[in-house]
This record gives sequence, structure tokens and C-alpha cells, in this order.
Amino acid sequence: MITYEIPCLLGLEKLVADEIKRLGLADVRAENGRVLCQGSWADCARLNINLRCGARVIALLGQFPARSFEELFQGVRAIPWEEFLPREAAFPVKGYSISSQLHSVPACQSIIKKAVVERLKAHYGMDQFPETGTKYQIRFSVFKDQVSIGLDASGEGLYKRGYRAVGVEAPLRETLAAALLTLSRYRGRDPFCDPFCGSGTIPIEAALIAKNRAPGLDRRFDAQKWAFLPPACWMDAADEAQDREFHGQYDIWGGDIDPRAVDIARDNARKAGVDDCVRFEVADAAQFHRDSPYGQLVTNPPYGERLLERQEAEALYRAFGKAWRTLPAGWRTLVLSSHTEFERCFGKPADKKRKLYNGMIKCDVFMYGNV
Ligand SMILES: C[S@@+](CC[C@H](N)C(=O)[O-])C[C@H]1O[C@@H](n2cnc3c(N)ncnc32)[C@H](O)[C@@H]1O
Repeated sequence: MITYEIPCLLGLEKLVADEIKRLGLADVRAENGRVLCQGSWADCARLNINLRCGARVIALLGQFPARSFEELFQGVRAIPWEEFLPREAAFPVKGYSISSQLHSVPACQSIIKKAVVERLKAHYGMDQFPETGTKYQIRFSVFKDQVSIGLDASGEGLYKRGYRAVGVEAPLRETLAAALLTLSRYRGRDPFCDPFCGSGTIPIEAALIAKNRAPGLDRRFDAQKWAFLPPACWMDAADEAQDREFHGQYDIWGGDIDPRAVDIARDNARKAGVDDCVRFEVADAAQFHRDSPYGQLVTNPPYGERLLERQEAEALYRAFGKAWRTLPAGWRTLVLSSHTEFERCFGKPADKKRKLYNGMIKCDVFMYGNV
């Protein structure tokens, strides 16, 4: 059995753990900023292709305590790296240290590199490693003097689904958009709206959820090139995911006041293969209106830190709140904002709140209705 580490944004641990349990992995444990679980090598492909809210997949090869460089060196050298890294492998080292004696990350990086090289030297009988071949990114963390070290199977973070255009201002990470939708319990049945859709991330992730389309089907992962992983596991995982897709009628709408954002959102939806079930329109959220007696609204309005000044954001929340109060009672709403005065401006205290981090920005999820 392999131990996998799935790092995630702070506040999303339980959601990620639930996703992993649904995939049938064993011994799922949510910790601060990461989830650990056990599975086979075939699960490496299944996790990468299917996870909506996790940040990346790391196959852990060692976990041990280390308070000195010697302990770190010995712990890393004890791992059978030669079983994973061919002689021409490129093996850069990345990581972080929190609340530990070994606090210098560059020093840890160079000790780890040295220990892996020593191990490989003994096995391959070589003094120098050209590192001209496939990348096996080594990732480590030292947390309270406990080292976790392994190989990063994802490469680019899982939030990169492959559909997003470059150069969009203040987009929401795809993994965070998927997490908001999971919190809202959106399944594709109800009419869905995002009146501040920007580049369309939330409606596009909603469409992927509605279709039960695995978010990683249209991208590559570093581990696809790893020699010790049979290529069939990627094909099997993709087949399994595609067999679970639904093909139904969905009512998913995104609006934004900026015509350029709407063009980008349409283009992203096309790239994500969901343009058949998402509509985007230029629309002012202050005029937002819906006749349907029920539905779900998940949105991420400007915070006033990155796009608008704070006061403009407050005026916008007031205008949107006024329009929102015309919605029939069967609508459920979830708003992500870092603005501390959101509820006051919006004109209604949330029925439920939850803290999340959007990158480094501390945010609240404000939930209204039966959520
Ligand atoms: C934080 S961004 C949303 C980002 C989006 N979730 C994404 O992933 O790209 C907020 C969006 O609100 C839009 N906006 C600002 N004022 C608006 C208004 N009155 N009505 C509708 N959209 C507005 C901005 O153009 C911007 O695209």
C-alpha cells in the first residue's frame, strides 16, 4: 500500500477527505492543510484525475522525526529511491518547514538532495547524475520536527484543469470554486446562477459536477511519465471516470458586467467541454432577478482589495443585496468574500458561516437558505 498526501487549502480538509473516501481509498485522515490516505499505485491515477478540491497528489515514501541534519540525511538515505528513480531521472527538491528545529528550507533541500544522490550512487555505481530524463519532483515538509517526503505525482497543481485562459484578473482557483459548490451541495438538479462570474470558474465547475465529469480528464500529470507506473493505470482511471459521466439537461448561468470577462468565460467553457450546458451573459448584479421558485446561487463578488476600492465593493453589496431579496424563498445562496462588512452591507446576516483561505486571503463563506 502507498501512503498518499493530498495538500489542500486551509479549511477544505474535510471536503477533500470526503472526496477521497468516495473514491474508496483506505485510512483517510484529515490534518491541517492536508489529507493522508492509503491506496495502490493505480489509485495515483484515480486521485489525480478525479479530485476536485485537493491541491496535488504526493506519493509519500518516508515519514520520520528529524531534529538534526544528520537525522534528516539518514532518514532520506534509508528510502529505496532506486526503486523509483531511473539513472537519468531529474529529481529537484521542493518543500517547506513549519514550527521545527530544521527551519532553513534551502539547507533541508541540499541535505535531502545529497542523501538521495548518495543512495543512487551506491545502487547505480555512478558519481554524477546528469538529470536529463523524466522529472520526479521530490516534495518534503517538516512540521513539528516530523518529516514527510515523497514524489509529486501531479506536477502542475490540480487547480489547473487546462481550460482557463491566461491573463484573467482575480480568478478563483478551480479547486476553491469546486469546494464552494460542494459546500452548497449543488448536484446539477436546480437552476444555478453566479451573477459575478468573471472568467466563469464557478459555473464551469458547476457544469463539471452536474455532468459528473472528472476534472483531470483534459490535462497531463507528471506521474504519467514515471517508468515504474504502468501506463494502463491512467487509461483504466480515465475509462472508469468517463463511465460515470451523466448526460442531462442543466440550467447553469453566469453573468458579469464586464463584456471581456463574459467572452473569456464562454471561451473557457468551450475549452472545458461544457459550453452546451452553461450560458454566460453581460448583466449587472444590481439588477439580478430570477422567476424560478427555487435554485442555487454561488458567487464570489469583488472584495475591494484587488479589483475595486472597499467603498465601491460595499455599495455593490448593498445593490446586490437589494436585488437578491426579490428572489423566491426556495433559493439557496453561498457568497465567498473577504470583506469584513459583507453581511452588514448585503443587508442580512448569514444563516451559516465558514472560514476559508483564498490563497493568502482569509475569507468567509456566507450561506443563506437551507444550506
Ligand atoms: C472576484 S471577480 C470573480 C472571479 C470569478 N469567480 C473567476 O473565477 O474568474 C468579481 C467579478 O465581478 C464583476 N463585477 C463587478 N461589478 C459587477 C456588477 N455590478 N455586476 C456584475 N458583475 C460585476 C467583475 O467584472 C469581476 O469579474
